[in-house]
Amino acid sequence: MNKFLTTIFVVMLWPLVTTAQTPSWNEIKGEQLIALQTKGDAVRGEVAFEPCQGCHRNDASGRTSGAYPRLSGQHATVLIKQIVDIRAGRRINPKMEPFIGDHALTPFEIADIASYLQGLPISAEIGKGPGTRLAAGKQLYDKDCTSCHGARGEGSAEKFYPMVASQHFRYLLRESQFIRDGDRRNSNPEMVKVIKSYSNSDLEALADYMAQLPPPRR
Ligand code: HEC
Ligand code: HEC
Repeated sequence: MNKFLTTIFVVMLWPLVTTAQTPSWNEIKGEQLIALQTKGDAVRGEVAFEPCQGCHRNDASGRTSGAYPRLSGQHATVLIKQIVDIRAGRRINPKMEPFIGDHALTPFEIADIASYLQGLPISAEIGKGPGTRLAAGKQLYDKDCTSCHGARGEGSAEKFYPMVASQHFRYLLRESQFIRDGDRRNSNPEMVKVIKSYSNSDLEALADYMAQLPPPRR
């Protein structure tokens, strides 16, 4: 009888176990779908972005220290996905939670903010790395990263791949380490596979290279 019950349990719970092990990195549904289907209004987005300026700055250029990423010029689709992932706890960001929770922003406001940010110019004040291993960084980047993030670091709006050119060095380095070590759980598993074997110094060379790439033209 016990064995029978155990078998029933395993059969019932197995799908839950397996789905927990293989989370889809970009399941477009719920509020992400609503925000993506909404035509964002940049004028309303500018107003809705006001509470965010304390950290991300008035022009959304972030901080050269890398504590806060540049959001200006990033693809709207990427911004929407990241905000929804942070809200859902797939990406840990306790500092930002009070500003971004369900009570603070509707999916429509997320669409407005994303549309506003995508249209902003990319500031020239970007936190750079030491510049000592740019050639090594370029070599790794060209081999392992261009297929998704593009030859100029432009990313892909359609595929939700972030623009990595002209992003602050320290932020890129921290995120690459999170991705490698499994602390950013919303990442494309193919990227995790690629990055897994990289040492900190490889990641530093890569972040150095990506940060100094000029803002790509849209
Ligand atoms: C208290 C500081 C703070 C405030 C206020 C804040 N953020 Fe952030 N935000 C952060 C930090 C820190 C990160 C990076 C977290 C990490 O390292 O993963 C971040 C990351 C992001 C990202 C991900 C960027 C990327 O390239 O993946 C988006 C999008 C974002 N914030 C949007 C917003 C919006 C929109 C608001 C206002 C509604 C806001 N933030 C308010 C601190 C803040
Ligand atoms: C298979 C496609 C793919 C490949 C290959 C890939 N990436 Fe990514 N990358 C992504 C996606 C998708 C995201 C956004 C993940 C998410 O939604 O959190 C991302 C995010 C990032 C971020 C965070 C950017 C931000 O604004 O927060 C960094 C840094 C990064 N990738 C670096 C790299 C580097 C370095 C390589 C090469 C060694 C690489 N990626 C290869 C798809 C890829």
